Amino acid sequence: MYYKKQLKKNKYLFLIIILSSSLINAQKVINTTDNIKLDQKIDSIISLLSLEEKVAMCHAQSKFSTPGVGRLGIPELWMSDGPHGVRGEINWDNWGYAGWTNDSITAFPALTCLAATFNPKLSKDYGISIGEEARYRKKDVLLGPGVNIYRTPLNGRNFEYMGEDPYLASKMVVPYIQGVQQNGVAACVKHYALNNQELWRDHINVEVSDRALYEIYLPAFKAAVEEGEVWSIMGAYNQFRGQFCCHNEILLNKILKEDWKFDGVVITDWGGAHNTMEAALYGLDIEMGTGTDGLTTSKENVYDHYYLANPFLEKLKNKEISEDVLNDKVRRILRLMFRTNMNPNRSFGRMNNQEHLDVARKIAGEGIVLLKNDNSFFPIDPTKKITIAVIGENATKSMTIGGGSSELKAKNEISPLKGIQQRFKNATILHAMGYASGPSAYGRVIPSKLDAELLKKEAIEVAKKADIVLFFGGLNKNHFQDCEGADRQSFNLPFGQDELIEELLKVNTNIGMVLVSGNAVAMPWILNVKAIMQTWYLGSEAGNAIADVISGDINPSGKLPFSFPKKLNDNAAHSFGKLSYPGDSINQYYKEDILVGYRWHDTKKIEPLFAFGEGLSYTTFEFSDVKINKSKFSETDEIKISTTVLNTGNFDGAEVVQVYIGKPKSKVDRALKELKGFQKVFVGKGASKEIEISIKCIDLAFYDESIADWNLEKGEYIIYIGNASNNITNKIKFIIK
Ligand code: BGC
Repeated sequence: MYYKKQLKKNKYLFLIIILSSSLINAQKVINTTDNIKLDQKIDSIISLLSLEEKVAMCHAQSKFSTPGVGRLGIPELWMSDGPHGVRGEINWDNWGYAGWTNDSITAFPALTCLAATFNPKLSKDYGISIGEEARYRKKDVLLGPGVNIYRTPLNGRNFEYMGEDPYLASKMVVPYIQGVQQNGVAACVKHYALNNQELWRDHINVEVSDRALYEIYLPAFKAAVEEGEVWSIMGAYNQFRGQFCCHNEILLNKILKEDWKFDGVVITDWGGAHNTMEAALYGLDIEMGTGTDGLTTSKENVYDHYYLANPFLEKLKNKEISEDVLNDKVRRILRLMFRTNMNPNRSFGRMNNQEHLDVARKIAGEGIVLLKNDNSFFPIDPTKKITIAVIGENATKSMTIGGGSSELKAKNEISPLKGIQQRFKNATILHAMGYASGPSAYGRVIPSKLDAELLKKEAIEVAKKADIVLFFGGLNKNHFQDCEGADRQSFNLPFGQDELIEELLKVNTNIGMVLVSGNAVAMPWILNVKAIMQTWYLGSEAGNAIADVISGDINPSGKLPFSFPKKLNDNAAHSFGKLSYPGDSINQYYKEDILVGYRWHDTKKIEPLFAFGEGLSYTTFEFSDVKINKSKFSETDEIKISTTVLNTGNFDGAEVVQVYIGKPKSKVDRALKELKGFQKVFVGKGASKEIEISIKCIDLAFYDESIADWNLEKGEYIIYIGNASNNITNKIKFIIK
């Protein structure tokens, strides 16, 4: 009925246009119908398009673009990775870099770092800045941010995501999207959904309960759609309940488009479509690809073989698929275009300006997490005439290169060594590589040609001469080491680092670890090193930000966005054996259900090495006068939790007040507590600040499978307030009546 009405309207509009002008082009349609609502404009354009033109808009014409309609002035749609900076230009038909000289950009910190800031305001700055760079580079869709939930420390792409907690990821993703899109560039939130490991990502079928799906794996996507109003979303490679996520009836048609009312465009992950009928009917709008045959192999310019290309056209022509299905896709694509490349009012963008570098440095500084700091090892006084040994390959290796599709061509990247050398001018800085990993290559390991024994010996000699050793180790975005396409193969540090650290400890015990990674790692040396700093992948300003924190110019305030288990089997997914992770190569079962991350550690009383939300400061804070506005609430109420944060130490600094809520007696199994609110607050030394955190009662509902809906249980709840999930200073009971 709706379509028939639209059709009538379209015909009418079409007639008006024909009568008023002989020169029909899309721009004219847009201008002459200025006062007509967007959807009507779009329908009028659709009525001008041939079946072939419409189908062409639904699939790639090159690695990162879809065709426009030249005769009508409808532009091509240009996309780019994402999510930590705008990727270098890629060739039309293959994955080689195009070799442009104007595509070097600002590299922003990886999203784990952004999440670790617990600062949504910085997420907005991130979004605005990267959106400006995307706009300047003439991109219409930025392929990011990623919000897949951190389920296992082996997942090769955790560094691209926002950690293990759905609430934190939701709060951080929304401002990023809004920031990007205010530039007239679409964010493309990815990978929807359940792409929580790289191993077998292109086919593994994920079986997960509805409850875990709605409570853990979907909230950040939902927030992206409903609050962030994201204009595009990328389907995941894997399957969910036996259907590929890029054309999954439940995920796309039911949840995304029907329940959440998503009015944007669903884009495949590259090569993520597998069936024309399903792609047409189950929610996919644009098919992009790794190969030109729609899968993984390439011939010259044969995008016509895509599932949403000629095979789709044929089925439309022989009426197996209704044209309404196609029109809905084109309507969404044109809507995306009116928001981006057909929006005459969008800005021009900016690239590589000082503001963007400042934003990158600020986020990096605020995201660094201090995990251990015996006898105030950090900060190191930059005025001192001491000898500092900087050891480890990660002190000099570029961390914007590698990792897969998030790899960047950074205009500048300050290495940690350079950052330390520039900040510690009075100190003597010695340097040794210590170990070597070999060059970064996608999908394969190229071993280093350097002599490991010689590197180790040299490092030991350097360590002997130093007052302080800073060991820069961790992972590095090489294949298997935090990189797309494969998971890590071991929880321990690679390239002989654990052994090297033990050797260094024999000659110098004054060692501070600076870990560069996007994942938790085993720390067999934890008791023997003086300090540990988790520094993520920090982008262009990495070395400066690390030096800022090491020197005390910046007081660390980052908090872990995921738990560090003591051993791999302490992680929920791993503790259920192979079928839970990684699966049997065909299926996998999320047996830990809702107990992901700290929910598992807390509930099962398995102490983590470092807990979700944990992070030290150079100062100390106290929360006093912790109270809630009342003790009994009804469903529609908001709980207001207030406290005074007092800085009791000798540094200005920032603390994150974290509010978790639990329901002791429930009709279903629950996590002991779940993050429901947080606020980062900057307090000068000796000063105090009052803060208030509001939580809607309705947000305490659980997903009740028996009614297929959210259910807010009545009765007693407990609020846990602290500065880490394992450091709760106050508990308050309240009732929902
Ligand atoms: C990745 C996506 C990425 C796309 C385009 C895929 O392999 O999974 O995240 O956006 O490639 O590079």
